[in-house]
This record gives sequence, structure tokens and C-alpha cells, in this order.
Amino acid sequence: MRHDRIALRDYLVADVEDPRINVKSILTRHFLIERLFDERYNELMEHELRFGMFMNWLLTLLKKQISVFQLHAVLDALLAGQDNAEGLEIPSYISETFNTLTLPNYICDLLNWAPVETTEVPIPEYLMSTFRTIWHEILISEQARCISVLEPACGSANDYRFIENFGLAGFLDYTGFDLCKKNILNAKRMFADKCFKVENVLEINEKNNRFDYCFVHDLFEHLSIEAMEVAISEICRVTRQDICVGFFNMYDGDRHIVNAVDDYHWNKLSAGRTKAIFECHASEVQVISIDSLLASKYGCFDTHNKGAYVFIVKI
Ligand SMILES: C[S@@+](CC[C@H](N)C(=O)[O-])C[C@H]1O[C@@H](n2cnc3c(N)ncnc32)[C@H](O)[C@@H]1O
Repeated sequence: MRHDRIALRDYLVADVEDPRINVKSILTRHFLIERLFDERYNELMEHELRFGMFMNWLLTLLKKQISVFQLHAVLDALLAGQDNAEGLEIPSYISETFNTLTLPNYICDLLNWAPVETTEVPIPEYLMSTFRTIWHEILISEQARCISVLEPACGSANDYRFIENFGLAGFLDYTGFDLCKKNILNAKRMFADKCFKVENVLEINEKNNRFDYCFVHDLFEHLSIEAMEVAISEICRVTRQDICVGFFNMYDGDRHIVNAVDDYHWNKLSAGRTKAIFECHASEVQVISIDSLLASKYGCFDTHNKGAYVFIVKI
């Protein structure tokens, strides 16, 4: 509540947090897509993950003020099958991704979009939204049963905005809540007809098993460990099937590192201990370190946040 309402609306959907390219947000949408359509879109989901990795690599280059000519050199190297563009090493996952695409493709567009004078201009929206356009076009003619979904700590509809404009919202009976009134005001201004409300995750005002599924991001690090235990039991109580949980500050250690900041927390959570709390309420907990996943599956070693994790919890 200390923060400006407009800043709250915008800060978690910008740059590497942009849900179109943030791997945790992409995996959350995939979590929902798999629940709706089983394995039908596995191949497209794989392409979207690669898009996210490419975009994060490109953003890193742009922050280092790469020139337009260097971007063109990268494209020339990719077209020629080379792994080096005038001294700039091209990671193998970028070349592999390039080779999965037919020509012309989004990589060609993204390496060519900048005017000759500077790369310090925003990437055009239509390129940022490459997969939004694809999913929207596909899902518009899809049919599936409606699933009820809860999102605690939804912020200013940060992820929901992209669930909506990717074409997924029509399949969901969605409820989002947040403790912060300004966030809910922002969400309501964007989606007046959707169920967004002010509520506390420590006492969710819903019946047991009310929702088929739940997803929640970047909340638990901000709670005391005792409050986190209560929040996890509440989320598991109201969810009937699966939960997708995102973390931004987790590690493979065996104790939580508690860091209280005023009334808030900025903890570094132990993956094992947090998993154990979920296991008190769930039949299965899958722990995914984004960094390890991208390294082992794609040879991508430059994720921007080594502390990013996703749990897939089965009640
Ligand atoms: C880092 S933000 C994450 C927002 C959003 N989930 C995202 O990933 O963009 C943490 C959010 O948790 C909310 N929050 C903190 N404590 C809460 C509580 N006890 N109940 C509900 N929401 C809470 C905050 O208001 C804030 O919107």
C-alpha cells in the first residue's frame, strides 16, 4: 500500500518479468493448457519456452548496448550455421532454436527490427507478442470443459492479463485475490466483470475443495515461515486437484534463510523444507528449478534468476 498504484500495475510485467517471456509465467500458462487439453499442445509449448529463452538472451545483449550491426552479424552467423558472430559467442540453445524454425521467423524479425541508428528503442509489441498471437488464434476455435482456478496474491492481475489476452480465460472460472486494495483496484479497472477481491491467504473465505486448480507466484518468500505454513495449508484446503506454485528466491539448501524487512519478509526458502510443508497436505510434489531445467534440457546456462523455482503439487 506504500507504493503508487500505477507503479504497482506496471512493475511486475516489465522487462524480464514480462509474463510473455518470463519462464515461470510461461510454465503457469502451460500448467493450465495441459489441464485443459492434455498433451495436445506439447510441441507448441516447447517452442514457446525456447522463445522465452531467446528473448531473455536478447534482452541481456540489449542491456549491454549491442549495436544494430552486431545484431545483424548474429543473424548472418545463424543463417550460416556458425556459433560466433564477430567475437560474440552464440549459445547452442539459440542456434538449435533457430534451426527449429522455418524462414523467415521471429528470430530474423527480432534481430532486424531496430532502426540503423540505435537499439535503444523498445522491441515492437507485435514481436513481444509472437506467442500471444499464435495461442490466441489456436484457442479461439478450441473447446474444453471449464475449470475453476484460484490465484492468491494475484497482484494487479499480473499473470491474468496474459491468460486473458492469450485466449485462455474463456476456459476458466477464475478467482483472484490479493491483500493489497490498490492491486485489486487495478485488476478491477482492467477486468470489471471478473472475480478479483481483497482477501488474506491466511484465511481464505472459501469452502474446502472449492477450486479445481490453483496457481500462485512470488508470495511465500514474503511471509514469515509460520505464516507460510498456514498459507500453504489454506491453499491446499481450497484446491481439489493440482497447484502450480512459483518462487523467486529459493535454493537447494536445507534451511530457510529468514530476512524480515519491517512487517514484510524477503526470505530465501529451502526447496526441500518447503516441499516437506506441501507434502503434509498433498500426495505428490514435483520440484522444478528453472535454472536446472533450462540447463539440463536446453544447455541454457544464463537464466537471469537462479532462485526461480516452480512446484507442481497434486493434492
Ligand atoms: C511479489 S508480489 C507477486 C504478485 C503476483 N503474484 C506476481 O507474481 O506478479 C506479492 C503479492 O503478494 C500479496 N500478498 C502479500 N501478503 C499477502 C497475503 N497475506 N494474502 C494475500 N496476498 C498477499 C502482495 O500484496 C503482492 O501483491
